[in-house]
Amino acid sequence: MELEQLRQQALAQLEQVHDEAALRSWNSQFLGKNGALTQALKRLAQLPPQDRPAYGQQVNALKEALLAALEHKKAELHQRELARSLAAEALDVTLPGRPVLRGRLHPATQVMRDILAIFAELGFQVYRSREVEDDLTNFELLNMPPHHPARDLWDTFHTTTPGVLLRTHTSPGQIHVMRQYCPRPIRVVLPGMCYRYEQITARSEIQFQQVEGLAIGESISLSDLIGTLSTFAKRFFGGERRIRIRNSYFPFTEPSIEVDVDCILCQGEVPGPSGSSGTAAAASSCTLCKGTGWLEILGAGMVHPVVLRHGGYDPERFQGFAFGMGPQRMAMLKYAIHDIRLFWSNARRFLEQF
Ligand code: DAH
Repeated sequence: MELEQLRQQALAQLEQVHDEAALRSWNSQFLGKNGALTQALKRLAQLPPQDRPAYGQQVNALKEALLAALEHKKAELHQRELARSLAAEALDVTLPGRPVLRGRLHPATQVMRDILAIFAELGFQVYRSREVEDDLTNFELLNMPPHHPARDLWDTFHTTTPGVLLRTHTSPGQIHVMRQYCPRPIRVVLPGMCYRYEQITARSEIQFQQVEGLAIGESISLSDLIGTLSTFAKRFFGGERRIRIRNSYFPFTEPSIEVDVDCILCQGEVPGPSGSSGTAAAASSCTLCKGTGWLEILGAGMVHPVVLRHGGYDPERFQGFAFGMGPQRMAMLKYAIHDIRLFWSNARRFLEQF
């Protein structure tokens, strides 16, 4: 009777066990050294000898039963803990991974490649010239002797080595190409960084890229230059762009011109072929061209006879055209970028737009 009571009590209490700690105390309460079962076994001595074997067997059977119940409970608790941790610390291997940030080409590089690709289609090879130049090539051989006032157009970074400077424009590359290829014909573009010691503003930086162009041959005329540049303007800015030529001055070209493209935003105020397209009203409110209808894109001209001679070409036999443009300026016009400083500021919000 007592043993049966003990069994029921033990199993009932085991039902209430929900964690390891409770299981441990149940174990010592019933199966421990001073537990109920040990106490029951001690009573064996008080029984008449003939009853002892049966009682002993019953106690042992009970012990087996309680041990089995204990193992069962242990397994159950273990399962429950496993299920809980699987649910709480779930790792969904089917979730897509976190996206890896991918780099991209800098907008200045993209625009440079666009420009070079257009000139490549027109038959111009790329020629890379040095960024550290000497005074001779940057100025003198380009028809600017020392003290020539035109040098004031370029505020120059001089190095501590006399006569060595950072190129103020890509034009000295013309001399290097000519001397390398003379007397063969030339059709090259010279891209690269230039440096000027000037105040940094939204429109000018101390470093900026240029793309120089040079074509030399025995029958090259101003109309070749104009054809090349108007084809370029159409391809780069898109649509039926028109260019305008203004006369200008550069020491290394004669005649010298500056080239504008009709405003890509307001389409300019110049009447179209039918005399109808574009209006003065549209142009005057345009923020890009400031109402002029035109955007200045580059300087150009026919290579000066003195420069041809410095390159090794006989100006009586050869002519050439040259031009120089600023890709940052072109990109600003094309993408309506208001500040040239953004190009070298490493601002991700700017860079990510391209
Ligand atoms: N080198 C000039 C500058 O940096 C730009 C230029 C003008 C280049 C006329 C040319 C040219 O080749 O013919 O301002």
